[in-house]
Amino acid sequence: MTGQTGVPCTMQGRNILFGVTGSIAAFKAAGWVHALAKEEAQVSVVMTRSATRFISSLTFGALSGKQVYTDMFAEGEGEAMAHITLPRSTDVLLVAPATAQTIARLAHGMADDLLSTAVLACTAPVVICPAMNSNMLAHPATQRNLDILKELHYLVVEPASGLLACGDEGAGRLPEWDGVREILLGLFADNDLAGQKVLITAGPTREPLDPVRYLSNRSSGKMGYALARTARRRGAHVILISGPVQLDPPPEVDIVQVLTAREMEEAVREHAGMASVIVKAAAVADFRPKNASEQKIKKAGADLYLELTANPDILADLGRKRKDNQILVGFAAESNNHEAEGLRKLKDKNVDLMVVNDILGEKTGFDVDTNQVTLISHDGVEQLALISKEETANRIWDCVISLL
Ligand code: PMT
Repeated sequence: MTGQTGVPCTMQGRNILFGVTGSIAAFKAAGWVHALAKEEAQVSVVMTRSATRFISSLTFGALSGKQVYTDMFAEGEGEAMAHITLPRSTDVLLVAPATAQTIARLAHGMADDLLSTAVLACTAPVVICPAMNSNMLAHPATQRNLDILKELHYLVVEPASGLLACGDEGAGRLPEWDGVREILLGLFADNDLAGQKVLITAGPTREPLDPVRYLSNRSSGKMGYALARTARRRGAHVILISGPVQLDPPPEVDIVQVLTAREMEEAVREHAGMASVIVKAAAVADFRPKNASEQKIKKAGADLYLELTANPDILADLGRKRKDNQILVGFAAESNNHEAEGLRKLKDKNVDLMVVNDILGEKTGFDVDTNQVTLISHDGVEQLALISKEETANRIWDCVISLL
């Protein structure tokens, strides 16, 4: 029914040539190398001579588990042709941090050290992460060199702003790893959702009881946010309608924050018309207190009885009013009868795919990083293994693409 389309967009097994230059931010690059190694990417680090003044090559060797290259002519560093063999086998060449000096050299095609020579020899994508003092970054010479790099189709990542090592405040900080990781995964992903406008709902809703209390559920938003991140990587235009969660918005995704089921309904109604794919991963409250109190409810006696009234069923509504050629994906949070319940909801709500997850599993469902779902479509049923929510999301997109 789904089969995997294209190459899975993960870091695992990817060859990454990681250039480190002489900036105080080199210590952050060590964290990046560690993160990549943890995701089983194959990282080969090339350091400029000035980088070794900030951090030892031993550090990168220990973190990457591979030989570190610092000098094209050093004896005993493995291949004498490292400047050719390294870029030849890489999926991406990442220079982070990239100093003003390195940026100037790369802009002018210099090849006076191993890193600059490897960049010239590299036919894979080159990603540059500038990091330096704000004034140096703003200097016309640096800006002109950055423009040249962009003209050379190097992918230049905007520096972050904030407190710099020199004590100045401003642009020039190395960006956070999460954003750069997204860029790399986007380079690796098939662009197989390009042109698709995808609407995703995520997280819980909050149904007020009084100014202090509300009814909600344990949804963390992780499943929906993984769907948004992976769809964006695969080229989709993503609108994410999110209940209250503790997650950073995925990069380059349009996010709409809501609290109640009725606010979510309104936001979905506003954006559903333009979407070619709608995925309802949010845990929408089925009920809300019938009479929310404007004042804090006081304790009066032992028991308090709540009268609840039904919230709109957003998915069912979408199923009734669906556009031609629109793909509708629902989730089912079940504790038993998973397949039967999934099939029932597939028909009752008139959707193309139901993603059924077991909410009683220790590593599935609410507020965990993994899931084990059953994909139910009119073509059949497929039970996925216990995998990350990010990989689950990729498998859901594989299925959606087969339905498009
Ligand atoms: O957010 P996480 O912590 O990562 O947890 C993920 C998840 C368990 C929340 C997610 O995988 C999931 O199962 N989401 C759907 C939860 C849910 O509301 O399931 P349900 O069986 O009650 O609803 C069925 C479908 O109808 C869902 O697509 C839901 O979005 C939708 N629905 C439900 C009620 C309602 N009033 N309107 C709706 O649109």
